[in-house]
Amino acid sequence: MKVLVVGAGGREHALAWRLAQSPRVQLVYVAPGNAGTGAHPNMQNVPVTDNAALIEFVRKEGIHFTVVGPEIPLASGIVDAFREAELKIFGPTKDAAQLETSKDFAKQFMQRHAIPTAKFQTFTDPLAAKAYITQKGAPIVVKADGLAAGKGVVVASDLDSAHAAVDSMFSGFAKGARVVVEEFLTGEEASFIVMVDGHHILPLATSQDHKRLSDGDAGPNTGGMGAYSPAPIVTPEVHARVMREIIVPTVHGMAADGIPFTGFLYAGLMIDASGNPKTLEFNCRMGDPETQPIMARLKSDLLQVFEHAVAGSLDAVELEWDRRTALCVVMAAKGYPDAPEMGAPISGIPSDTPDCVVFQAGTRLVNGKTVVSGGRVLGVTALADSVRMAQRRAYEAIGSIHFDGAQWRRDIGWRALNKRH
Ligand code: AMP
Ligand code: GLY
Repeated sequence: MKVLVVGAGGREHALAWRLAQSPRVQLVYVAPGNAGTGAHPNMQNVPVTDNAALIEFVRKEGIHFTVVGPEIPLASGIVDAFREAELKIFGPTKDAAQLETSKDFAKQFMQRHAIPTAKFQTFTDPLAAKAYITQKGAPIVVKADGLAAGKGVVVASDLDSAHAAVDSMFSGFAKGARVVVEEFLTGEEASFIVMVDGHHILPLATSQDHKRLSDGDAGPNTGGMGAYSPAPIVTPEVHARVMREIIVPTVHGMAADGIPFTGFLYAGLMIDASGNPKTLEFNCRMGDPETQPIMARLKSDLLQVFEHAVAGSLDAVELEWDRRTALCVVMAAKGYPDAPEMGAPISGIPSDTPDCVVFQAGTRLVNGKTVVSGGRVLGVTALADSVRMAQRRAYEAIGSIHFDGAQWRRDIGWRALNKRH
């Protein structure tokens, strides 16, 4: 059986890697893929990103189904286009993807369906936004309405920087732009990802990302500098509440609003000291780098899981997870996240072992050499019996990898480790 994974990052490498292990999978196409997916014996990169061309390719190759990694193709309506062409695909429609592509849509939706989230107001006028900010006081959070690759959110600790954020967001926009201003929430973040087939919900293992560039959660926001699974903050009680208060009402609410959700649904949570979860954001896809540790722990046959997902029978699936912790450290390019530098040759990537896999992201093959071609370059992912041991194993593997200007955090997993004291 041939399958297609759309995307080029570490998330897609991890999905393709797990799919390629299914005994019934002959070949995993990855469009467009990276140097890692290009080098795998059971994977093949396809240099195509256009929806119509992908449909043609899928028809020609007799590809069984398609899984979409990133939000951009989802926002462009790839799922609608494939369905119109009567091809199997797992992901949300363009309309359903608004849960991620429009902060205003997501906030209005949560308000309408009484899903716990930060109090907010949406503005189309900078002066009104600033007046509201002055009235509410800092700290306060300012969010651009559309997709912004992690750059559309400013957590402002004082009024001046909140006002400046409003100005910069409105000045960068086309007419009709919106800004969401919301209450600052405190607590610990976790990523809660489920699969939805239109009717049934299948939760994946929990995880926690590290969004800031530097150790101790300092520095600018990034796409994510590392992740581990499971996330100890999501206790069985918190898990039950997230399902009951956030995930189930979201899936039912989307159906009730006439926009049934299919695909991966990712709730970014803030969990306060008493264990009350609130939704910071929705994504309509898996997380990157969260997917890397989640796939490292998945023991079930992923092909079978996707078959049920596209057939609407996820209720028949019971996922099996490796009980160990998986921990992924992202190695990023020099200059990431503002201005990543491309082209540095990468050496020393260790071969996969049963307890350590290097998923590639921003990499490209040039004259047979793997070089840096994106901000986040590698996701070094290790499995071990404890967070500490998984961390040690991942950093040991990093020790053998080299590229000029490489930057990575030294403390991935620190929140989980602090809990043990
Ligand atoms: P988002 O893209 O909405 O998840 O925001 C990016 C990051 O900004 C989140 O991962 C949080 O760290 C932070 N953030 C977003 N909204 C809030 C909020 N209401 N209170 C505190 N931090 C927030
Ligand atoms: N790692 C955060 C995200 O994928 O949105």
